[in-house]
Amino acid sequence: MDQITFHYDTVLSDVHLLLPNSRHLMARLNRVGQPGTGEQHTMATPLEDVGKQVWRGAFLLADLILSQPTTFRGATVLELGAGTGLTSVVMATVAKTVYCTDVGEDLLSMCQKNVTLNRHLMEPAGGEVRVRLLDWLRHDLCTDADAEFGWTEDEVADLHDNTTIIIAADVCYDDDLTDALFRTLYRICNNLRLPCTTYLSIEKRLNFTLRHLDISCEAYDHFRHCLCEMQELKDGRTCFTVEQVKPSFPQCLLYERIEQLELWKVTAVPV
Ligand SMILES: C[S@@+](CC[C@H](N)C(=O)[O-])C[C@H]1O[C@@H](n2cnc3c(N)ncnc32)[C@H](O)[C@@H]1O
Repeated sequence: MDQITFHYDTVLSDVHLLLPNSRHLMARLNRVGQPGTGEQHTMATPLEDVGKQVWRGAFLLADLILSQPTTFRGATVLELGAGTGLTSVVMATVAKTVYCTDVGEDLLSMCQKNVTLNRHLMEPAGGEVRVRLLDWLRHDLCTDADAEFGWTEDEVADLHDNTTIIIAADVCYDDDLTDALFRTLYRICNNLRLPCTTYLSIEKRLNFTLRHLDISCEAYDHFRHCLCEMQELKDGRTCFTVEQVKPSFPQCLLYERIEQLELWKVTAVPV
């Protein structure tokens, strides 16, 4: 029998995709929950590969898109930390262009395969997903012509001129990365020509910590702290407004919409 060995830093997925035929979003897993040839999602990964799993926050954002298509129709969209690309694919069923970004050649290749596998879902509305490298730890977009997932100058211009929506699902789980994500969000919003709305989904994961000798949720608390800082920012360039969105919109996809799953909206308006 096949066996999976879980190491101390293995992160298990809460989401199990059951996909009876290949025309559904993402492909079927093999017996041990790992992708076989052409199958583009895993259910257990080391921490640095968490993007190869689909997280509940991706489904929550996908549900938002499916239940409010007019909000996103024809838009130019940027997804940060897209992982498998599921939410970008759903977005491209209504939006015009989705820049689906993450880091790591193998993750981006997996994401690109998912986009290609699901092209038929986007074609009717004419939407497209462009898988690109965007590392929150870098200050610039990679425009190296030799890089497989690098940006062209035209794409950078399109991003800055036309983006009105940014999405990011389950990207705040490490405080340093969360800081880098918010710095990236701030930098990008400051470079946009148009007002922009960012939707961030997050799952409040409760842990018992020895430091507090209690249940706490440090990653979530830090996320909330970053949101507050953003709202209080007065730089004379962009005004940020933060509000929580009640996930009361219909659930179209099959996953557990637990109460710890939250959605936040950040509106950026050039001053
Ligand atoms: C928990 S996964 C969420 C993936 C996907 N959004 C979902 O919900 O299924 C976090 C994502 O953040 C990405 N990420 C981590 N560090 C990053 C960085 N420095 N720049 C860009 N993306 C990063 C990971 O590669 C991963 O895809």
